[in-house]
Amino acid sequence: MNTRHYLDIPDLSAEETRAILRRARALKTRPVQPGLLAGRSLAMIFAKSSTRTRVSFEIAMTQMGGHALFLSSRDTQLGRGEPIADTARVISRMADCVMIRNDSQADQAEFAAHSRVPVINGLSELAHPCQILADVLTFEEHRGPIGGHRVAWVGDANNVCNSWARAAALLGFELAVASPPGYALGAELAGLDGVSQVDSPAAAVAGATLVVTDVWSSMGQEAESARRAEAFASYQVDAALMAQAQPDALFMHCLPAHRGEEVAGAVIDGAQSVVWDEAENRLHAQKGLLSFLLEVPEGAIE
Ligand code: CP
Ligand code: NVA
Repeated sequence: MNTRHYLDIPDLSAEETRAILRRARALKTRPVQPGLLAGRSLAMIFAKSSTRTRVSFEIAMTQMGGHALFLSSRDTQLGRGEPIADTARVISRMADCVMIRNDSQADQAEFAAHSRVPVINGLSELAHPCQILADVLTFEEHRGPIGGHRVAWVGDANNVCNSWARAAALLGFELAVASPPGYALGAELAGLDGVSQVDSPAAAVAGATLVVTDVWSSMGQEAESARRAEAFASYQVDAALMAQAQPDALFMHCLPAHRGEEVAGAVIDGAQSVVWDEAENRLHAQKGLLSFLLEVPEGAIE
């Protein structure tokens, strides 16, 4: 069988994505199952900072009996110019799976093209598919199947938003995105089934059962943060905006968050927020993903 990668949402079918969520739910019920990945290793290459992604992947491997290696691209030969293709050939002759966080989806694809083992996108400038697996898992734990629901994205149409858009098309829900001029979804993503770019935060949240936002300046955009803060000033998710969504709407944020910027403290720390479940579910969702990509039979999960 060809090696499967997870560089963005469409790399797996809806049915496969559903299977991963099913595995995640089973593994959440019984987290420590060391027989599943005994003796297997995940190499994690980080060119950018991380709390959740690093901790969840590392603990996921440990709980399934495997091992994870943290490789900062600054400390490996990648940082001194060793070609990506050569690095992929070498690491994939030793590790059973690779996770990469960097600012180049193209470099991740190049790595995958030369890898003998599955490669997972742990965030790039264009996508954050593992985050959306956890987010859908979280939504469905609280509200049941996401199909047919309306999700509102308020703020920068960034990497996380892009993967939400691809998930909407794959899993059959609606995504309404509100962003200031210059920070909207690209035309291809805005044209996906179920996805719309709307004129205002109020228009996005109308009818929504989930409201999602993210930082105004992503990693690598620090130099633009003053300009962005000005552009996004009227895009904060606050209590008044949440009140215009469905009464039982949930609030999510991939974290890290900036209270008083993209989200009011009263919202992220309020009753509709499920951000801590969402963060925890990174662990469970990625265990589903790892077990799937490493071809652990679903029946082996207790
Ligand atoms: N949400 C997320 O990916 O967090 P980290 O940057 O801490 O990994
Ligand atoms: N959009 C954010 C997500 C961090 C998890 C960033 O890329 O920095």
